[in-house]
Amino acid sequence: MERGSTKLWGGRFHASTDALVDQLNASLPFDQRLAVHDILGSVAHVAMLARRGIVSRDDALAIVDGLRQVLAEIEAGTFEFRLADEDIHLSVERRLHELLGPVAGRLHTARSRNDQVALDFRLWIRDAILALGRGLADVCEALLDLAERERETIVPGYTHLQRAQPILLSHHFHAYVVMLLRDADRLRELYARVNRSPLGAGALAGVTYPIDREYVATLLAMDGICENSLDAVADRDFAVEFLADLSIILVHLSRLADELVLWSTAEFGFIEFADAFATGSSIMPQKKNPDVAELIRAKTGRVFGHLQSMLTVLKGLPLAYNKDLQEDKEGVFDAVDTVQLILAVLPPALRTLTINRERMAQAAEESFTVATDLADHLVRCGIPFREAHAIVGRLVAYCIEHGKTFATLEPGEWAQFHPVLVTSRPPLTARDAVLAREIPGGTGPSHVAAALARAREHVQTWRAWLAEQQARIETAFHRLRTGALV
Ligand code: ARG
Repeated sequence: MERGSTKLWGGRFHASTDALVDQLNASLPFDQRLAVHDILGSVAHVAMLARRGIVSRDDALAIVDGLRQVLAEIEAGTFEFRLADEDIHLSVERRLHELLGPVAGRLHTARSRNDQVALDFRLWIRDAILALGRGLADVCEALLDLAERERETIVPGYTHLQRAQPILLSHHFHAYVVMLLRDADRLRELYARVNRSPLGAGALAGVTYPIDREYVATLLAMDGICENSLDAVADRDFAVEFLADLSIILVHLSRLADELVLWSTAEFGFIEFADAFATGSSIMPQKKNPDVAELIRAKTGRVFGHLQSMLTVLKGLPLAYNKDLQEDKEGVFDAVDTVQLILAVLPPALRTLTINRERMAQAAEESFTVATDLADHLVRCGIPFREAHAIVGRLVAYCIEHGKTFATLEPGEWAQFHPVLVTSRPPLTARDAVLAREIPGGTGPSHVAAALARAREHVQTWRAWLAEQQARIETAFHRLRTGALV
C-alpha cells in the first residue's frame, strides 16, 4: 500500500490516508482556480477576527502578510501545488504554516472549509458572470453592427424551415439580440443571489465567536450574508442557476449557429464564412466547412450535461455539507471556459461574414412568400379572411400547376379566382410585404430601426452595470491585497 498524506488535522488519525484515497478525495487539480478568491476571503476573515479581538492585532498582521506572500507566489507561478494537500484551502494553509509557523493556525478560527469553499465558489462565479457578461455584450454588438449594415437586406422568414414571409435580415439578427439581452438580465438577477457571504456558517451551525459577518461581506464587496447557516454551506442553487443561464445562452447561440451552418450550404447560398473562420477538408480540396458554427452547436450539449450533473449531485442530498458538493466545480469551470470561448469567437466570425444579398432577395421573392399579403388585400376588399385564404391557396396551386408566379399571371387568370382581383391588386414584392408590417415588433423598416436603437441602449446599460460591479470588486480586492486592514 502506497503511503498517502499526513493532514493538518492529524490528531484524530493514527495513519495517513491511502494514496488512492488522496487521488479520489483531492480537489486541488481543479479547485486551484479558486486560489485568489480563497486567499482574499481569508484576508477579509482574519481582518474581521482582529477587529473583533478574536485574534491579536500582531497575529492578524502576520497572517495578512503571509497570505499576501502566498498570493504573490501563486501569481508568480512559483507556488507548489501538492496533491497531498487535498484542496486549495489546505494548500494555502499549509504554505502559510511553512511561512509563519504556529501563528498560521489562528486563521481558521471561527471558520470551516464548508463555509470557506461556499464563499470562494460564489466569489469565483461572481467574476465569471461579469466576464461572460462582457462577452454577451460583444456578441450583441456584433449582431447589431451586422443588422445596421444589412438594414436593406431582405430574406425569407421561415416556419417549418419552409419559406414563409419576407423579413429584413436585420429583424432576424435583432431577434437574437433580444434573446441575449434577456440572458443578460437573467445573469444580473442571479448576481444578486450569488453575491452574499456564507462565512460565519462555520461547519453548519454557525460559530461560537462574536464574529461580524456583515463586515466580512462588506470587505469582499458582497451585498449581504446568507441567512441560514445550513443553507449557506449546503446549497448550490446558484451554481445550478448559473449553469441553467449558460445553457439558455447556448440554446440561443446554437440556434443561430445552426442557421449559419444551413445558410452557408450551396443549397441556401446566403452567407460565406471568412477564411479565418472556416476550415477545409483533408481529402476534398473544394470544401469550406463551417466548423465554428458546428462546434457552437455541439458544445451546447456539453454545458447541458454539466447542468444535469449539478442537479443530480444536489438531488436527495441531506443537509448540510456532504463531500458530494465538491463535485460542483469542474462542470461550472468547464461551462464557463466553453461559453467564454464561444462568446469570443462569435463576434469576429459574424463581422467577417459575406452576406449574399442577391441570393437572399431572390429567395425572398420566390415560393409565393407574399401569399399572406394577397389574402390580407382581399380582406381589405371585404372578403372574410378564411375565404381569402382559400382563394389565394387555389391561386398558388394554379400557379404551381402552370409554372407561373403572381407576377406573370394574366388579368384573365386573376379574374378566375375573384372579380376584385381584376381591378385591384396590391403591390406584391418582398419589399412591399416588409413595408406593410410597420407595427411594433414587426419587420417594418422604421420599427426595426427603432428596435435596434433600443437594443443598443440596452447593451450600453448592461455594460455600465458590468463596469460598476467590476470597479466595486476591484476596489475591494485592491484593499484586501494591499490595504492596512488591521
Ligand atoms: N474541497 C472541498 C470542497 O470542494 C472543501 C470543503 C471540504 N469540507 C469538508 N468538510 N471536507 O467541497
